[in-house]
Amino acid sequence: MPLMCGALEIVGEPMTSIESDMRRQRPAAALALFAVVVCTALPSYGSQEASGREGAVASRSPLATQVGIGVLRQGGNAIDAAVAMGFALAVTHPSAGNIGGGGFMVIRLADGELVANDHREKAPLEARRDMFQDDNGAIVEGLSTASHLAVGVPGTVDGLLNVLRRHGTLTRQQIIAPALALARDGFPLPADLAAQFERLRGRFEPYPASLAKFTRDDGSPLAAGDVFRQPDLAATLARIAEHGRGGFYEGTTADLIVTEMARGGGLISHRDLAEYRSVWRDPVRGTYRGHEIVSMPPPSSGGALLIQMLNMLEPYDLASLGRGSPPTVHLMVEAERRAYADRAEYLGDADFYDVPLARLMDKDYARSRFADFDPDAASRSADIGAGTWPTESPETTHVSVMDAHGNAVAYTTTLNLGYGSKIVVTGAGFLLNNEMDDFSSKPGVPNSFGLVGGEANAIEPGKRMLSSMTPTLVLKGGEPVLVTGSPGGSTIITTVLQVVTNVIDHGMDVGTAVATPRFHHQWLPNQVRYEPGAVSADTRTSLEKIGHVGFRETPGIGDANSVMRVGDEITARSDPRNAGAAAAY
Ligand code: DON
Repeated sequence: MPLMCGALEIVGEPMTSIESDMRRQRPAAALALFAVVVCTALPSYGSQEASGREGAVASRSPLATQVGIGVLRQGGNAIDAAVAMGFALAVTHPSAGNIGGGGFMVIRLADGELVANDHREKAPLEARRDMFQDDNGAIVEGLSTASHLAVGVPGTVDGLLNVLRRHGTLTRQQIIAPALALARDGFPLPADLAAQFERLRGRFEPYPASLAKFTRDDGSPLAAGDVFRQPDLAATLARIAEHGRGGFYEGTTADLIVTEMARGGGLISHRDLAEYRSVWRDPVRGTYRGHEIVSMPPPSSGGALLIQMLNMLEPYDLASLGRGSPPTVHLMVEAERRAYADRAEYLGDADFYDVPLARLMDKDYARSRFADFDPDAASRSADIGAGTWPTESPETTHVSVMDAHGNAVAYTTTLNLGYGSKIVVTGAGFLLNNEMDDFSSKPGVPNSFGLVGGEANAIEPGKRMLSSMTPTLVLKGGEPVLVTGSPGGSTIITTVLQVVTNVIDHGMDVGTAVATPRFHHQWLPNQVRYEPGAVSADTRTSLEKIGHVGFRETPGIGDANSVMRVGDEITARSDPRNAGAAAAY
């Protein structure tokens, strides 16, 4: 993609003294060559798998992957690369990459420290528990997904800048430069994006800024190969590069967000924006067959459920039972059923609700929770009404990065559903999330992912909505060996579970572990959803005989861009289910 070289430029701003104090590991001299760098990363561009000894990155967007490997090549660390990729994804992968949404980053630093940055969106201060219900208490369809009320206070910009300031080595300007150049100068529109823009045209139509962003100037559809420029987004990124969080949460960008809210009855105020702060949290930690599992704590349910499910599975020898065999699928489905039932009851923002985290991840609890497991019979999900699967293409995106110093970053970010609320902030050029739908709008009523919840995840002003995002590190002997995570809403956690067990139990290399077909159960609805090849006809018949119901073949569960280290070799793998890319050197 040679155009990229022309689109990127050196941003030669000197580091402030604070930033310079924050620099770690690498000399500043290399940074001056930053722009050239991104161009010289081209050899690995576009491949699904790549190995090297110095560093490796994988993402859903070949351009973002190129940005990440360029940062590593020029001496940035894995944290710099992940943050630069986060900003780049907001430009090159607009369905999920964002500055108007939120995400979670789990980091293992070269010195062994483990940290997690929570930049999940928050409910606006004016939000109310029943805001998506009508006067009779019925859910108003579409209000929590396709309206200005669906938007949570965005966290991505504060989170990425916070991570960079604390653990990066490059300046904010250097990190944002590739994204800014891609937005300002444009890039040839990939066919998949052109098709998405066309398919969603009707959803963008109520919002002139959205329609303008995703069509040509004359309103006709953008075609694959057209140069896709995003000048308003470039201006917003320039404000962030210049002013830091003030370039988003205050001043022009904040004014534009609040004005956009006024246009459609949204709730986000200047105070919501000014008060938003990302939070450093201790990752949740568990063990599984001699490996350490490090993942995201609440407000994600992902880490806790992953560890709980691994605890339930550990007493069983999955390796000799065999991947995809009836006993293995039965075990995993039953673990998933119990864990997701706990999710609905106990998981929410721990700053607002007393989440029994230690108990959920306790090995004794897993044993007792699984004591009623019957190897010869499926258990039954509770008898409340069945949920539904999403009808709209879901989107979130996951980035994995490792460098030779032992830094490892698992980063999952989202607008919630594909293109979030579909609302572009007029004049600011970025999409707003529809993350409010991740709250439980009413006890027992399923959200877009068929997930139910109650008190723990009820809407409250300033509260973070429960997530399934599961950015995860696997360590062996204290050293990172696997970085993984995925989009997929409720299926994220089971996707990560399968990548981890594919590696640890079934001894797969990262490419096979990621590519192997997946299945999913989430308690309610009581269905086993599976990709072609994940559950053979014989296995399905055996499982139906012992009472499993609701088998449903479905394409594309997850998009687990991952990185794995074996000895000195680091291999990045983009999930073959999508057109992402891996790069390494
Ligand atoms: O945080 C969550 O769990 C959801 N908002 C994630 C949405 C998602 O993964 C959609 N993508 N495929």
